[in-house]
Amino acid sequence: MSSHEVLNQKTKQRYSLYAQFYPLLSLLAYYVIWRGNIFRHIRFFRDIVQTKIKILDIATGDGSLTAVALRPDRNDKIAKLICLDISPEMLAKAKTKLKVPKCELVVGDVQQMPFENGEFAAISCFGGFNSFPDGPGALREIYRVLASQGRVRGSVLLLPNAPWKQKKIQQWIQEGYQTQTISIDQFKRWVHDAKFSVSTEVLIGDVLLFELIK
Ligand SMILES: C[S@@+](CC[C@H](N)C(=O)[O-])C[C@H]1O[C@@H](n2cnc3c(N)ncnc32)[C@H](O)[C@@H]1O
Repeated sequence: MSSHEVLNQKTKQRYSLYAQFYPLLSLLAYYVIWRGNIFRHIRFFRDIVQTKIKILDIATGDGSLTAVALRPDRNDKIAKLICLDISPEMLAKAKTKLKVPKCELVVGDVQQMPFENGEFAAISCFGGFNSFPDGPGALREIYRVLASQGRVRGSVLLLPNAPWKQKKIQQWIQEGYQTQTISIDQFKRWVHDAKFSVSTEVLIGDVLLFELIK
């Protein structure tokens, strides 16, 4: 088994249990560890839809954030919403929140997505990069399936300064909730290497919200 597969396996096992307690525990960690602001987070996610589009959401998880931000049941500008996640248990929960026929849930790996080159005009990926086995590889694959001039919006959880928070995050990495810590400089290098340009970056606490253009 490759190191990617080992990490994906660990993530799948961990998230099959974590699915039972999501999204309450994740929201708590988001506020206490990363000092986020869920309302700004939701608004930033929602604003990705400006014209009628087919959108891909990566690392959808249990679908709570995606359902609240995109409201596919009410938003006529969403022609189709494809949601990809590696955890079948998380997507089983998402199924109850993203019920409309235009939502399609796909169990799959961000590193090898079952989509055509340039298939999507917009891609969202909130909270995924901290759990992927290979950040630069994921960005290259996102670049491949994004249309020319397409936009990606997402978030990365940065490493907070407080030692107790860093210790907690290291523990979560050991346990498989996350795969790695990510710094702003490191993320920007990945973005540059994948040939994206950054059009927006907003820092809220230790949460980076970003928009990338192909
Ligand atoms: C922290 S959750 C984020 C869920 C949701 N977007 C949110 O913000 O609440 C991270 C998600 O990434 C998924 N994930 C981890 N590795 C993945 C991979 N290689 N491909 C696709 N999804 C993956 C996990 O299963 C999990 O549902």
